[in-house]
Amino acid sequence: MNRTAKTIICMVIGDPVEHSLSPQIHNAGYKALGIDYHFVAKRVTTTELADFIKEVKKKHIRGVSVTLPHKIEIMQYVDELDESAKKIGAINTIVNDNGMLKGSNTDYLGIIHPLEKRTSLEGKHIAIIGANGAARAAAYGVTIKGAKLSIYNRTVEKAKELAKKFGGEACSLEQLEQVKNAEIIINTTSVGMEPNVNETPIPKEYLSKHQIVFDVIYTPKETRFLKEAEEQGANIISGGEMFVEQAAAQFKLYTGYDAPIDVMKQAL
Ligand code: ATR
Repeated sequence: MNRTAKTIICMVIGDPVEHSLSPQIHNAGYKALGIDYHFVAKRVTTTELADFIKEVKKKHIRGVSVTLPHKIEIMQYVDELDESAKKIGAINTIVNDNGMLKGSNTDYLGIIHPLEKRTSLEGKHIAIIGANGAARAAAYGVTIKGAKLSIYNRTVEKAKELAKKFGGEACSLEQLEQVKNAEIIINTTSVGMEPNVNETPIPKEYLSKHQIVFDVIYTPKETRFLKEAEEQGANIISGGEMFVEQAAAQFKLYTGYDAPIDVMKQAL
């Protein structure tokens, strides 16, 4: 579709942002639905955030996807935060309704939608490895769905903070063997991410066919952790699936249409 003055613009901002796959998958979705939207990537530094927000209002940018390192910093510039954003303490999505900017977080939907396609979360015992941003989104998502949470982190203090906020128990990595009892395991650490593809957050022998094993890392496409989980017979979920699901939730907020998820997956 050709861009005109009427074309509705959405974008992803970050620093760096060149490698973001968001334009690819959002534009593929617009094309599939034949709607007059266009999605671009824009590098914005932290010092430029305030001016950038003015530009969003002035130029009627409809939606802004926010990636690292701005997910926390940008919160102060929006007019309203939804419940998920307040609880998680970070946003990845801004919707512009006639100059009113609303911040929300779809990262947690990127975690719970793939899980709920496989099982109900109510009462499930879930182990989260790590205690940074992705862990907060995961902890928020699974606890609002009634799961029981154990958070494992190298720095136990950070696990304790999360457990206090969302409920559940905090554990050290010395206790990692206990993940054998978890029905779902979610890795939110950077262990196993390129270039350290030979690392894995959990020994293979702790994984089994009774588990759903989720890695939020999407480079490489299949981490050593997921490969080994699959070899053990576990049901696996990749970071790519999370990425598409969080984008699909943004797509709905920006356009009002249900995202064509399969098309977006294909584009990825
Ligand atoms: P980010 O870029 O998202 O901040 P990071 O700081 O590399 O990523 O790590 C995020 C998470 O991975 C943290 O929970 C971190 O543990 P700490 O809180 O103890 O720092 C965890 N992590 C990173 N490298 C790790 C490693 N080699 N072993 C165990 N945990 C690790």
